[in-house]
Amino acid sequence: MKKHDVIIIGGGMSALVAANKLAGKMNVKIFTKKLKNNCNSWRAQGGIAAAVHNNDSPFHHYSDTLKAGCLHNDHGAVSLLVKEGVTRLNRWIAAGMSFDTDSSGSYLLGMEGAHGKRRILHAGGDQTGVRMMQYLYDKAALSSDIQIYENEQAVELLSEGGKCSGIITKGTGGRICGHRAHFTILATGGCGVLFQQTSNDTSIIGDGIAMAYRAGAALSDLEFLQFHPTLIVQNGKTAGLASEAIRGEGAILTDEKGCPIMKGVHPLKDLAPRDIVARVIEGYVRQKKQVYLDITPINNFRERFPAIYKICQDAGISLDSNRIPVSPGAHFLMGGVLTDTFGRTTLPGLYAIGETARTGVHGANRLASNSLLEALVFSERAAESILIEAEKITPAQIRHNQHFEKQNTSCKVPALPSRKEIQSKITVSLGVERNEEKLKSLEAWLQEQGAEYHAYADRTGWNREKIERSNMLLTAWLMARSALERTESRGAHYRTDFPKPDQYAWQGKQIIRQLQPERLPVKN
Ligand code: SIN
Repeated sequence: MKKHDVIIIGGGMSALVAANKLAGKMNVKIFTKKLKNNCNSWRAQGGIAAAVHNNDSPFHHYSDTLKAGCLHNDHGAVSLLVKEGVTRLNRWIAAGMSFDTDSSGSYLLGMEGAHGKRRILHAGGDQTGVRMMQYLYDKAALSSDIQIYENEQAVELLSEGGKCSGIITKGTGGRICGHRAHFTILATGGCGVLFQQTSNDTSIIGDGIAMAYRAGAALSDLEFLQFHPTLIVQNGKTAGLASEAIRGEGAILTDEKGCPIMKGVHPLKDLAPRDIVARVIEGYVRQKKQVYLDITPINNFRERFPAIYKICQDAGISLDSNRIPVSPGAHFLMGGVLTDTFGRTTLPGLYAIGETARTGVHGANRLASNSLLEALVFSERAAESILIEAEKITPAQIRHNQHFEKQNTSCKVPALPSRKEIQSKITVSLGVERNEEKLKSLEAWLQEQGAEYHAYADRTGWNREKIERSNMLLTAWLMARSALERTESRGAHYRTDFPKPDQYAWQGKQIIRQLQPERLPVKN
């Protein structure tokens, strides 16, 4: 078989899993907007959930995932996740990826919110992301089929004849480059940095969602954004994440006086689903009261959670009193670019994987540590599907390694609000608690800023920062409209004006956002 190019936008876990699967059979070019470690995967403290213990089963994992997802999940996709997850993970382990074990060689399985069993594998305690990414990058470095281009911002997806045919990128100096490929994969993560407080890397602003929408691909479930209850905050600034694994090992959320705040709220107390814990803490934040994670029950905290210990140390938080100040922040987007279980979007030739994709596995609220498993299962499935599709390419269609460059054209750029202003407006209205008034006011503000225009304007002549802010406005506008439309509360989408799930009007209903073909962006 001839080697055809595959382009991957983004350099996180899902990108690397797909690239490693494709290497040897196809050429893969990975484009990252900043450096390759500017992504959330490197930060993953929680581990990878899989029913590997003999007291567990994929079925138990399946039902916990559906329960956390408030029945909004795609049952078929969840079934693939939990079953194939175990097989694929074991294959990785056999190939050399290692996870923490006890002295007898049994996995040290962790517990996190809404899991009915201990089933989270970790590597290096709270350094699972770093370890897995190092393993994947080391593997990728051995292959001459994988090339990584850093600081090359993907600006636009190219389409020809109703198919995605590659991407346009912009280098740091403003040089514009077109790259053609038979297959393009979006792996740009979610959109946590639309909010003031987030666990995400500073580069994660919804680029993939905005690009897919502009290219005409369907998006879904954008109203479901998970807020992690326990970001570490010091003087109003986020220092990092305090993994749920800490609560899994016995830490307790308390008020300023040391009283437990989750007692009597939910049978799982501190390990209740994330949306519930986040709302309780948000109530304290609104009253300007600080909530703490009391880590007294954990022996050897420093050895067991070295990364979190260091975050606290760097932020000047003393752990002498055994408490970490916490508050909720944007963490994970359950919705995204609509895909089937092979990562295929509604635009032929375009795939989406990882947090960028809406595979349906997470429903309205992701079960903790299911995202690395999703990245593993669905990125491999996407790669496998591409390998099958590539077999069908005829010699006449081959167009590998083609790329073109053009001069940076100057063009009129509309005035754009600052990043800070965008984040502040979004945080007020699309946060842990929403209502019609707040959402309408955000929608109106985004309209005034020309959010809709950002769906089809030709932006190749804009500078990188302007393109990013344009993506932020567009992504937030799509999310606000979906949040306004869903007049119920379900999982992470909580509306004070519709505080209950509406089984009749909304259960099983997906909100889709898709640009009409006549509005597709104007090309120079
Ligand atoms: C955590 O460690 O709490 C985050 C892991 C996850 O979001 O799955």
